[in-house]
Amino acid sequence: MDLKNQINKDKLPQHIAIIMDGNGRWAKKQGLIRTKGHEQGENSVRETVEICREIGIKNLTLFAFSTENWNRPKYEVNTLMRLLVKSLKKEIESFQKNDIRLNAIGNLDLLPEKPKKELLEAIKDTKDNKHMTLTVALSYGSREEIVSAVRKIVEKTTSGELNGSKITEQTIDEHLYTSDIPDVDLLIRTSGEERISNFLLWQIAYAELYFTEVLWPDFTKEDLLKAVINYQNRERRFGKTSEQIN
Ligand code: FPP
Repeated sequence: MDLKNQINKDKLPQHIAIIMDGNGRWAKKQGLIRTKGHEQGENSVRETVEICREIGIKNLTLFAFSTENWNRPKYEVNTLMRLLVKSLKKEIESFQKNDIRLNAIGNLDLLPEKPKKELLEAIKDTKDNKHMTLTVALSYGSREEIVSAVRKIVEKTTSGELNGSKITEQTIDEHLYTSDIPDVDLLIRTSGEERISNFLLWQIAYAELYFTEVLWPDFTKEDLLKAVINYQNRERRFGKTSEQIN
């Protein structure tokens, strides 16, 4: 049966986050240089955005570049930045047509001038789109995000804008880069690695984790559908008992 028909529209994850891993290994397997894997990975990004939009996922977050990735060889970092600019330019029309809002999380100040400018422009141009929010995590590290939230909160308590004893989980939520998107329901990591790698640590508190051996450049619409179907067959208890849930 068509995998899409197996999706239960009433039980869709509100937010899917993906650690797109395995580009380098994919390239090596083909006898190519690592950056070819990133270029191929761009197609999987497009396929994934399309299928998520099609089945009605409201929030999709992609881990495109971590704070640690700045330490990769300069050539690879430059290629990733170039790819980002190129794909933003290429996709903006389809974001508008498909009512997709582009969003970014991470320390964007570290991005080189050109990618940063293109990115901020694309974010501005799509800000009123409502069907889906596509968030790219760029120069992103979750601990850094939490530190930055703590700093903002401390500033507010020092200035008297916020009462320290009134700090709740919601206060933390509101000061993270993800303040305007819901918590992650389904976290996918490709390439067989089973790690979180400093991605959305706070936001995945109750997420279902899905690991697949598929390398990111080989990841297709069917693979995304399989992950969603797998998620829908799980029982999410949020700390309660099975009887309480049913
Ligand atoms: C991890 O594979 C992947 C990345 C560090 C970059 C992901 C970027 C893209 C897919 C490019 C397009 C992105 C956008 C948002 C347009 P790896 O290099 O760590 O692979 P390895 O573990 O096999 O070496």
